[in-house]
Amino acid sequence: MDNTTHDLAGNTVWRMGFGAMQLPGPGVFGPPRDRDTAVAVLRRAVAAGVNHIDTAQFYGPDVANDLIHDALHPYPEDLVLVSKVGATRDATGSWLPAQRPEELRAGVHANLKSLGLESVHVVNLRRHPGSVVPLDEQLDAMIELREEGLIGGIGLSSVTLDEYRLARSRTEIACVQNAFNLADRSGQDVLDATRDDGVAYVPFFPLGSAFNAENPVLGAASVTGAARRLGVTPAQVALAWLVHLAPNVLLIPGTSSPSHLEENLAAAEVILDQAALDEIG
Ligand SMILES: NC(=O)c1ccc[n+]([C@@H]2O[C@H](COP(=O)([O-])OP(=O)(O)OC[C@H]3O[C@@H](n4cnc5c(N)ncnc54)[C@H](OP(=O)(O)O)[C@@H]3O)[C@@H](O)[C@H]2O)c1
Repeated sequence: MDNTTHDLAGNTVWRMGFGAMQLPGPGVFGPPRDRDTAVAVLRRAVAAGVNHIDTAQFYGPDVANDLIHDALHPYPEDLVLVSKVGATRDATGSWLPAQRPEELRAGVHANLKSLGLESVHVVNLRRHPGSVVPLDEQLDAMIELREEGLIGGIGLSSVTLDEYRLARSRTEIACVQNAFNLADRSGQDVLDATRDDGVAYVPFFPLGSAFNAENPVLGAASVTGAARRLGVTPAQVALAWLVHLAPNVLLIPGTSSPSHLEENLAAAEVILDQAALDEIG
């Protein structure tokens, strides 16, 4: 392994991965605007060396997983698919918690079915804020699923430092996926802990997310200024900044656009100078 790769549940992955949440229709609900382009984006990512794709059965629902299956199955040997459980969608697309142990199990089975796998490489337990289901009970369920061979590794998503520490004291944790970007560093404590432990940290919303009317990352003056000066794009500055933060950070920028994908892949080559790092702070 070198600085461009990291371990993920016993697999060596390129730190530049891909997030599949932008592939379904608007609001991560229903079919893609352009199915052929979505398939092409997935194939291009893998052809360019991406071997870590983040997804969820509840993206669509089933749309992201079906696209991954149709575009990439039979999967390359080294491709690590990471999914998540803990939520579901209703008929209108609203996001609902599905936190109980039996719902986590049903979520894993739904992922196995749509991805066409006998075991999902890694499944993140996505904690719902204020979940009434004790983390210990959820971990029991995840450990059982791993022992049965239905998942390869257990990840955590949207967890606090205490929750991360509790989970690590119970079992091996493959990765943590929390919201983090240069405009929202509220999860710095969890990032620091994973770095100390050598556990993969996968920031979601690396580019500021699709949910904001005004993007707090790509529109930040420090980012646009550095991008102009270095002759790169704001997205490349945002991604290079995350790579620079710690060697255990793995990127999963989300896009449905072939040109954005190329930009994001090329960010792996971008190195920020001290002036840019100082400006971003
Ligand atoms: N664990 C969780 O609860 C959780 C929550 C959210 C997300 N995730 C995962 O994290 C991944 C990343 O998060 P995200 O997709 O929500 O947000 P993001 O990567 O921060 O941003 C995605 C937004 O940025 C745009 N974009 C992508 N590349 C760009 C570029 N080069 N230049 C300009 N705009 C660009 C996308 O639009 P275009 O499609 O037009 O490029 C989209 O609007 C998701 O795909 C998903 O796999 C996990």
